[in-house]
Amino acid sequence: MSTASDKRDELRLLVNSRHPIIAVETSEEKRIEDLLSGVAAELDIPFFTWTVTQGLLRKGTDQPIYETEDPGMMLGNVAKMRGDGIFLLKDFARYLEQDKLLRRLRELAASFREVKRSIVLSAPVLKLPPELDDDAVPFRIELPDSVLLLKVVQATIAEFGLQARIKAELDQAGLRQVAQNLTGLTMEEARRTLAKCILERNKVDARTVTDVLEAKRNALRQEGTLTYLKAESNFADVAGLKNLKEWLRKRRGALSAEGQKFGLEPPKGVLITGVQGCGKSLCAKAVAGEWSLQLARFDAGALYDKFIGESEKRLRKSLEIAEKLAPIVLWIDEMEKGFAATGSSADVDAGLTQRILATFLTWLQDRQPGVFLVATSNNIHALPPELLRKGRFDEIFFVDLPDAEARAELFKIHLKKRGRDPAGFDLAAVASASEGFSGAEVEQAIVSALYTAFSKQAQLSTEIIVAECHATRPLSVTRHEEVERLREWARERAVPAN
Ligand SMILES: Nc1ncnc2c1ncn2[C@@H]1O[C@H](COP(=O)(O)OP(=O)(O)OP(=O)(O)O)[C@@H](O)[C@H]1O
Ligand SMILES: [Mg+2]
Repeated sequence: MSTASDKRDELRLLVNSRHPIIAVETSEEKRIEDLLSGVAAELDIPFFTWTVTQGLLRKGTDQPIYETEDPGMMLGNVAKMRGDGIFLLKDFARYLEQDKLLRRLRELAASFREVKRSIVLSAPVLKLPPELDDDAVPFRIELPDSVLLLKVVQATIAEFGLQARIKAELDQAGLRQVAQNLTGLTMEEARRTLAKCILERNKVDARTVTDVLEAKRNALRQEGTLTYLKAESNFADVAGLKNLKEWLRKRRGALSAEGQKFGLEPPKGVLITGVQGCGKSLCAKAVAGEWSLQLARFDAGALYDKFIGESEKRLRKSLEIAEKLAPIVLWIDEMEKGFAATGSSADVDAGLTQRILATFLTWLQDRQPGVFLVATSNNIHALPPELLRKGRFDEIFFVDLPDAEARAELFKIHLKKRGRDPAGFDLAAVASASEGFSGAEVEQAIVSALYTAFSKQAQLSTEIIVAECHATRPLSVTRHEEVERLREWARERAVPAN
């Protein structure tokens, strides 16, 4: 994982290697300013900032240069200056729509190649005209790690101590935990989140640690494509799927510090496909519970409806957040909705689908360990072959209809869930009556049987369930061909989950 000092090295290298324009898309203005200021100090060159309200200001002075609020005047001034320098121009890129300013900047860039001077363009959303492609290099500041966040936590708490006389009742380990729980947020978001939690109770204590986690969950929920979930189920809730569960059980702990120290290769993820209603989504959720990890769901479909126009950026940001939350289980349900092969959906722009897929594949390839991906798919035929190629996932599992033993287990689990003692039922009989049923259909049979029993003012019994099963035509019968087609596909490409 790259650290704050790695980032500074990278920036220094860009300036030193005479890159005239550095483009930084970020809402963390203060961070890029601090980074650049550090680089300038190290290189011993002057550092200037510019905004349209304040003009051009040299760091260490408090008088902006006369009349430089005007973008054209500012560029003129920069052109006249001699010697090295770093110029951070905030929200300047929008003025580049004017031909004259764009031209001027390009001329400046050309002259900058001779000296150690860089113009840094920053904005929360940065779109540069294509004319600058050769001169501008992008620089990414990543989300802050927990070390950097600890500084934010300490500063925020100190501020409250001074202003509101709130005394912190948390030791160093507690503070570190607060910082850890804020990962995934920007520095400013982290500061605001913590401040809000402190203000709510006018206290900094053990509860603050969990309060910030809850507040972060809410903040990420608003982010739109990631939902931070409580992992409520585990493998005890999943019937059958022995192979898959065994595979996952074996890798439990592989993401933990101990596992890493032992030399375990961190698992990357699995793709679960198969027959409808047989527990793909359930199993994905259960991994997090079983491994005692956090669970985040990524809504790939939202990239195309809610966030059209900024789809790739959203995807990148979500994946970056997921990495910051590591170790974590990242669940992508119905993956084909976001990463379908081109041509499978008429109303989605093919270029966009390709770019989304490319972004995702790059991430799959280069990502940091610590994010275990569980993807499910109901329609593997819609998934592009690039995604299914060896090495993308550790394994592709195929979930088939449950056999008699698994169906008995299904009845047991779902009877228990509804407050019935499975010992009072003939599990072999109900399992045999539900031949060809999916897990969801078994569950539905119990739900319907309960209605029947209640209307007859009788207690739920084996007979009522068996009758209910006989009245059901399961999917495996009504959509026999589809199920066969799935099995055919899976025979060569996937490992049986059951
Ligand atoms: N193997 C199973 N063990 C326990 N419950 C199951 C199992 N399979 C299905 N169920 C029950 O059926 C419900 C639906 O299952 P789930 O959503 O996991 O299926 P799915 O394979 O993801 O289906 P879809 O293809 O429709 O997305 C679950 O919430 C659960 O109650
Ligand atoms: Mg599902």
